[in-house]
Amino acid sequence: MSDLKIPSHVGIIMDGNGRWAEKRGKKRSYGHRVGSENVERVVEHAFKVGVKSLTLYAFSSENWARPKEEVDELMRLLKNYFKKFISKVLKNGVRLKVVGGRAELSDDLIKVIDECEDMSKDNTEHYLNIALNYGGRQEVVAVVNKLIGEGKAVTVDSISENLYTAASGEPDLIIRTGGEYRLSNFLLYQGAYSELYFTDVLWPDFDEIELDKAIDSFGKRKRRFGKVL
Ligand code: IPE
Ligand code: IPE
Ligand code: MG
Repeated sequence: MSDLKIPSHVGIIMDGNGRWAEKRGKKRSYGHRVGSENVERVVEHAFKVGVKSLTLYAFSSENWARPKEEVDELMRLLKNYFKKFISKVLKNGVRLKVVGGRAELSDDLIKVIDECEDMSKDNTEHYLNIALNYGGRQEVVAVVNKLIGEGKAVTVDSISENLYTAASGEPDLIIRTGGEYRLSNFLLYQGAYSELYFTDVLWPDFDEIELDKAIDSFGKRKRRFGKVL
């Protein structure tokens, strides 16, 4: 990787697990399993090269419409991921936050999420946001309703300050694996000026080298934020 600027906050749409499995004549669930195993190496590498915050899209508010068997498997894998996270929390300095609606999640999943968030709440080295049952539109609606409920003014800044990922700042870079060129309801408000990086690589194959490529690409971008530079 060249010596270019490193994005502080990176969002990743981890797409392509199903197609990765189907290409191998396997069930989609197999792709989700291998995809979930891939999360750790990418997270570790991102933090190693100096990314401060990561927001990973694990399950969208629209993904409930998939077959029950697939949804159940995804929930099981997520629970396992959080359990593994707990066993490492003290040495990794990472603060974990799950962003998205809680009401639809099972009690045992909520329990392990609460444990992760509570045990890691004093960590400040890195922020790891897992978007689970997340939708960007739903997030904005929830924030606006919260502000109204508290009798506060709804402004560009008051919404920003109350977004689920506020502690991480706005994403500098959003990566989507799996060859689709869309956001699929991910970080719509905070992504207004994010640099976008799309790759055909399917999520289970997205490794350290692929992440370096995305970060290199970011380093070459000119961010203007509407100004003339
Ligand atoms: C991403 O992979 C994981 C989730 C959306 C939960 P997909 O399951 O969407 O894989 P493809 O896009 O069908 O290949
Ligand atoms: C986006 O992928 C959601 C996640 C990666 C978790 P999808 O596979 O659900 O997106 P669409 O349906 O192709 O837009
Ligand atoms: Mg997909």
